[in-house]
Amino acid sequence: MTYKEICEKLRESGIDNYGYDAAVLIEELEGTDVATLRGDPNRDYCSEKLMDAIDKRCKHYPLQYIIGEWEFFGKKFEVSESCLIPRADTETLVETAIKLLPRNAYFADLCTGSGCIAIATLANRPDCRAYAAELYEETLRIAEKNAKKNQVDGRLEFGIADVLCPDCLDVVCKEGNERFDAILSNPPYIPSQDIDSLADEVRFEPRAALDGGGDGLIFYRTITSYSKKYLKEGGIVIFEIGYDQADSLRKIAEENQFSCEIIRDLGQRDRVAVLRAETQK
Ligand SMILES: C[S@@+](CC[C@H](N)C(=O)[O-])C[C@H]1O[C@@H](n2cnc3c(N)ncnc32)[C@H](O)[C@@H]1O
Repeated sequence: MTYKEICEKLRESGIDNYGYDAAVLIEELEGTDVATLRGDPNRDYCSEKLMDAIDKRCKHYPLQYIIGEWEFFGKKFEVSESCLIPRADTETLVETAIKLLPRNAYFADLCTGSGCIAIATLANRPDCRAYAAELYEETLRIAEKNAKKNQVDGRLEFGIADVLCPDCLDVVCKEGNERFDAILSNPPYIPSQDIDSLADEVRFEPRAALDGGGDGLIFYRTITSYSKKYLKEGGIVIFEIGYDQADSLRKIAEENQFSCEIIRDLGQRDRVAVLRAETQK
């Protein structure tokens, strides 16, 4: 099949960015660079690997899982069906953390998935260290590989933890041990009943990475309720939130005696909530 024919096949299957996807698949699976692709539009590509990949993409299987890698905050991350594909939206949380973390900070990344938040933050803040927690062993293995790949493994520890359990960080913050300067998290935040109406591609991502319970807020409520126990004085919580969840986060913050600042992403949608413990007057 030629580049044009591959584009046409993807377009007919409803793939929006068919030109981009076709070019990435040819580049990754045939080793053909973009200049060659453009310079020789009638070249025939026929490897079984590429044909399989095109069929998968036509069924809306994510491009990122096909090529097994994705870029986030200028770094490459291995991805598989065991982890959420890092989203450009999440870069707002990383930018906020890089800006707000104090010098030599020690922070936690709860619900780490591919590890993209902790790893991108550490890569840009060589003075910091972190602990990343995830529920699934298989997912955590990917995060560990990504930490090595991006050369931050010396400053990042990992642990299996159910962050819905209020004492989940006791193992790290043992009596006398250091507490965190910040807790970062992009938890699952889609209301359960909305998941089936998401884009076809999202159906292939782990449901556990998306499902935030009936109202989508269970992780925010739970993590906020125990975070002070694990934070140093003046410590902060930085959450990624859904574009329509700012008011709910303000309420959760208030109920737990935190102030709440909402930060917008490049598309001007509410994207990040920064919670600070309110000082007693
Ligand atoms: C929205 S994804 C975020 C992944 C990554 N931090 C990112 O921003 O791309 C949420 C992650 O939380 C994990 N998770 C779900 N329930 C959890 C729980 N109870 N405790 C810890 N992690 C959980 C999922 O496996 C998934 O990796």
